[in-house]
Amino acid sequence: MISFDKIKSLNGEVKAPPDKSITHRSLIISAMAEGTSRVTNPLISLDTKATMEAVSSLGIDLRRSKNLIEITSKGYRLFKEPENIIDCGNSGTTARLLTGLFTPTRKYYVLTGDSSLRERPMKRVIDPLKKMGALISGRYSDTKLPITIMPSTMKSSTIFQETHSAQVKSAIILASLQLEAATTYVEKIKTRNHTEVLLQLCSDSININDDHIIIQGGSTLEAGDFMVPGDFSSAAFFIFATLIFEKSKVTIKNCGLNPSRIGFINVLKDLGVKIEYSIDNNNGEPYGNIFIGSQDIKGGLISGKVIPNVIDELPIIAYLGLFAASPIEIRGASELRFKESDRIGAVVYNLKQLGAEVHEYNDGLKVFPLKTINKKCILKSFKDHRIAIINTIIAKKFGQDIFLDDISCMNISFPTFMETFAEIEE
Ligand code: S3P
Repeated sequence: MISFDKIKSLNGEVKAPPDKSITHRSLIISAMAEGTSRVTNPLISLDTKATMEAVSSLGIDLRRSKNLIEITSKGYRLFKEPENIIDCGNSGTTARLLTGLFTPTRKYYVLTGDSSLRERPMKRVIDPLKKMGALISGRYSDTKLPITIMPSTMKSSTIFQETHSAQVKSAIILASLQLEAATTYVEKIKTRNHTEVLLQLCSDSININDDHIIIQGGSTLEAGDFMVPGDFSSAAFFIFATLIFEKSKVTIKNCGLNPSRIGFINVLKDLGVKIEYSIDNNNGEPYGNIFIGSQDIKGGLISGKVIPNVIDELPIIAYLGLFAASPIEIRGASELRFKESDRIGAVVYNLKQLGAEVHEYNDGLKVFPLKTINKKCILKSFKDHRIAIINTIIAKKFGQDIFLDDISCMNISFPTFMETFAEIEE
């Protein structure tokens, strides 16, 4: 069991770690391109290492130096068939994006993952790829990892969004880039658009017309120079902590501010929070600084189209309900049950341990302001990196009253969390 001394407030400047989603995509797009691509400021964590190893197993040369990865590839047409199965570890992004990448290459692959990933849905990505002619089989009637991908002839098609998932969209885009004719992906509810943004930086293959993403396949991708900004979802932990620690004021520097990721800022504004940001660079992936201070939070309902835009911040929003003036309710978020843990179940469990009143629904939860904290309660991470980080912040707020189980899973997305948080502790 782990506990922490109570921290009073947070002050100063902090840098969010590099963006996980953009690192995965930069590595994969570099692997598809011909020549030497450069990924500057990549996230080095368990999840992105899974993607790096998978890329290496295709016969692609990856050279890591301080803050840079150079990837030299002969392009997607000349991938080597991997000698072994590919272990995606805990990373849903690796598993789903690679499924899309591999299906049109006419080679044999087996993908698996850790015990959490093997329980997460793959059907959402297998079904549309099968519609395009992919040959995939997997455990539980082709719905779960491990999966096998066999050589097949795929064809362009029009695919309509069924799951509000950037991973599924990206898998379709990566497959479509390799097919001769144009594929259209119709995305009614917007999800994060890093795959489109990065591809637009290094090719003419993608055109976006309102909710239609048109992918013109078959051309050679040129090597690119990718710069990874700070991860907004990791920055969100500092925003959360600054809000709930008294007399705190924090600036988060060089953070990714892609509009498809920063719904949390709008949700906070609706909850009466004053939060500002400035954009330093608007070319490709925008980034800049976020300014936040501790303050009162109102309650409210979070639901509808904003959900995919705040999907990774929803556990934080739920925990904020403990500190709000009235309840915070989240609905239409059943996707949360399919993340690294069942995040609705995990959050409800921990908030109840703390002594809060919480109502659980299939698609969300309602959190009431915390009246008195349960002494000596134990919070569980459920081996989920985002839950482990939030629990650590709560433990630092309440001090020795709170115990945590294993928090080492924070290495999945934010291996430097402890040192980075210590920089602003007072
Ligand atoms: C991600 C998309 C989201 C998100 C995950 C990363 C990505 O998942 O929750 O942490 O990099 O595309 P879904 O696509 O399943 O919503």
